[in-house]
Amino acid sequence: MSASRLLEAKSVDTSTTTHSFEDLVGDAEVFFSEHFNRKPLLHRGALEGRTRSLVSVRQLDDIVAMEAVPPSYLRVAKDGRGVPSKAYTRTVADRGAALTEAVVPEQVYELFRSGGTITWNALNHFLPSARHLADVFAETFACPSEVVAFLTPAGKDGYAPHHDPVDVYVIQIEGTKDWRVWEPPAGRHAEKASHRPEDLGTPVIETTLRPGDVLYLPYGTPHAAAAKAEVSLHLSVTVEPRRWRDLVGETVQHLLQDAQFDGFPHLGDSAEGDGAAVLGAKLRELSDALAGADPAAEIDRLLTAGRRRAGAGRSREFERLASADVLTPDTRLRRSAVPVEIGPSDGTKSGLLVNGHRLAVPDAVADALRGLESGGVVPAAHFFPGVSEARSVHAAQGLTRLGVLETATT
Ligand SMILES: [Fe+2]
Repeated sequence: MSASRLLEAKSVDTSTTTHSFEDLVGDAEVFFSEHFNRKPLLHRGALEGRTRSLVSVRQLDDIVAMEAVPPSYLRVAKDGRGVPSKAYTRTVADRGAALTEAVVPEQVYELFRSGGTITWNALNHFLPSARHLADVFAETFACPSEVVAFLTPAGKDGYAPHHDPVDVYVIQIEGTKDWRVWEPPAGRHAEKASHRPEDLGTPVIETTLRPGDVLYLPYGTPHAAAAKAEVSLHLSVTVEPRRWRDLVGETVQHLLQDAQFDGFPHLGDSAEGDGAAVLGAKLRELSDALAGADPAAEIDRLLTAGRRRAGAGRSREFERLASADVLTPDTRLRRSAVPVEIGPSDGTKSGLLVNGHRLAVPDAVADALRGLESGGVVPAAHFFPGVSEARSVHAAQGLTRLGVLETATT
């Protein structure tokens, strides 16, 4: 995937604030030509004054205080090493039957008071602001990402020097943290591993991160961090870009869905050489299919599929459905981003295909939808021309529930 494709990525409205990928890393052309996959980047003051909208210590308190947080979402490290989860969990039971392991807030707080670093994994599963941050990365890299929060008490090291098997974007939220970052070694290893400081030599970056600073670490970059004067809260966004083998593998899998690859060969035949001949013919069919694939259409498919995995769309679905129930004649409506196929008219009605649903609507409704396709807003009372207000509102309500129309707030 070329950098220019990636640069088409949009910024995402977080409904409280908007951060773009360029807000985080600075000039994206420079980032992709000089840093991405190559060397660390320190972007000082990237989100200065804007970090509180991403996450607050109070929100992290609220998550710890939930009754049944599984330990997979909350980790504790002390003296550079992970603390076994049984030190801060209990078994939640219902009438004697064990339901799940859950975090015990008081034990977590005690571990923090005695110097432990607390880590909230997959914060994007809990907080809309973190989910939208992950969405910025999904848009940019067309692959999933995870937002992890680290809270470290003053005067403590977080984890011992190590590298991670993913790209990491560190965003300092509150307090300060001292970082040492070493040059990624040649022939970097993908798996997570610890390092002895004496093996690493002189750091390439040795700095104190303050709220709003962003630090990018390509996968495999050795790093160590410690909070000094005050409690430190930072977010790490982890991203594992899809490699060529992943992308090409997905294209091959897509082509293999064709009916010509449906058969069940009898592999026993291969002993006589026939199997090898049939396999050879199948490989030639695959090779022809690959040669005939349209790279532009295929990259669009890979981008769409990768971004869809973020799971950040469709939030506020219940709120949206509830709003459809209280539509008034004056409610201003517009087309949503949900794709709709409008079929030809049979003289009075036209077919619609929406999210796998097929329905027939009066031609005037189909025309009204076509009219809204390029933008524009219409009151619910006037959406369906030529009928009563009540019938127009009723039709608009049905299409709002399906997601075709949405309330225009501006
Ligand atoms: Fe790390």
